[in-house]
Amino acid sequence: MEITLGQDGPAVTPLCIGTWAWGDKIFWNYGSDYGLNQVREAFKVAMDVGTTFFDTAEIYGFGLSEDLLGQFMQPNQPVQIATKYAPAPWRFTAQSVSDALTASLKRLRVEQISLYQVHWPFSFLMSQETLMNALADEVKRGRITAVGVSNYSAAEMRQAHQILATRGVRLATNQVRYSLITRQIESQGILDTARDLGVTILAYSPLAQGLLTGKYTAENSEPTGARRLDSRFSKDGLKKIEPVISLLRQLGEKHERTPAQVALNWLIAQGNVIAIAGAKTPEQVRQNAGALGWRLSDKEVAQLKQVSRPWLQ
Ligand SMILES: NC(=O)c1ccc[n+]([C@@H]2O[C@H](COP(=O)([O-])OP(=O)(O)OC[C@H]3O[C@@H](n4cnc5c(N)ncnc54)[C@H](OP(=O)(O)O)[C@@H]3O)[C@@H](O)[C@H]2O)c1
Repeated sequence: MEITLGQDGPAVTPLCIGTWAWGDKIFWNYGSDYGLNQVREAFKVAMDVGTTFFDTAEIYGFGLSEDLLGQFMQPNQPVQIATKYAPAPWRFTAQSVSDALTASLKRLRVEQISLYQVHWPFSFLMSQETLMNALADEVKRGRITAVGVSNYSAAEMRQAHQILATRGVRLATNQVRYSLITRQIESQGILDTARDLGVTILAYSPLAQGLLTGKYTAENSEPTGARRLDSRFSKDGLKKIEPVISLLRQLGEKHERTPAQVALNWLIAQGNVIAIAGAKTPEQVRQNAGALGWRLSDKEVAQLKQVSRPWLQ
């Protein structure tokens, strides 16, 4: 099963492998809890099971995430890469977009990528006109197949869409935080606007950074890295999500799937949504790929919607 990015972008699997943790020491502890061997094996398993769409960014591990993908990919392997441009105050000309892309392609060791995204909205010194036009130029040059944004509101998405349309390029994607316990994109009109514009939603942190796997409970185990500071991982935080975890387990038992697979399947069932599941190990990639190839019933999708209503705001 494949899905196109936007109305006329490349076709990809609706499960994307997130590679923020590949090389990142600041948030994820790369190099101490897990390292090169695990992420190399994770890449191999992704190839074996056919999840060949990867999300990275120039800032992940300060370029190391892109560089690792570049090391792992073999020539002529059918891999789709999405990376991201980081808007920053010192980047205020169209040339900085082109230079950043050149550097990303070099680390990735490819001449062209499927999707190039603006990591967050920021138009202090570079206007959205300059930025979108620079991206449209790269589509025409053939270095990127499709243009995406990330963390854009409904209004910002519309604006980007309009500017690109004047160049005959369609905005393909908006990458935003979306999971059963972070459903704000539904109440803020982002999901509806994306449907309206034919923009595909790339859901990041779809497992709520591990919470929806059910492995973190009020009784046991602390997460590693910066998540220790996140109140959702505290005893109280974990208690609050128990009803959601319990339904994920119940539906998982029925379908012989894990809570993580059910949580990802629910996102994909929204239609027009691709889940970007972060994975550090081959086992996690293998398990998350099991979110594909089956479907929750409409009734089960509605049950999960109901239990997660408190997380709409
Ligand atoms: N555009 C943006 O601003 C933005 C922001 C954040 C993320 N992203 C993208 O979205 C991707 C995913 O987001 P995320 O990493 O924040 O959150 P996530 O996908 O919700 O969670 C990933 C973490 O959950 C745990 N995990 C994953 N699969 C598991 C499984 N099957 N069983 C048990 N544990 C599992 C792992 O951590 P442990 O094993 O340590 O628990 C893993 O690092 C990132 O890699 C990145 O590509 C983009």
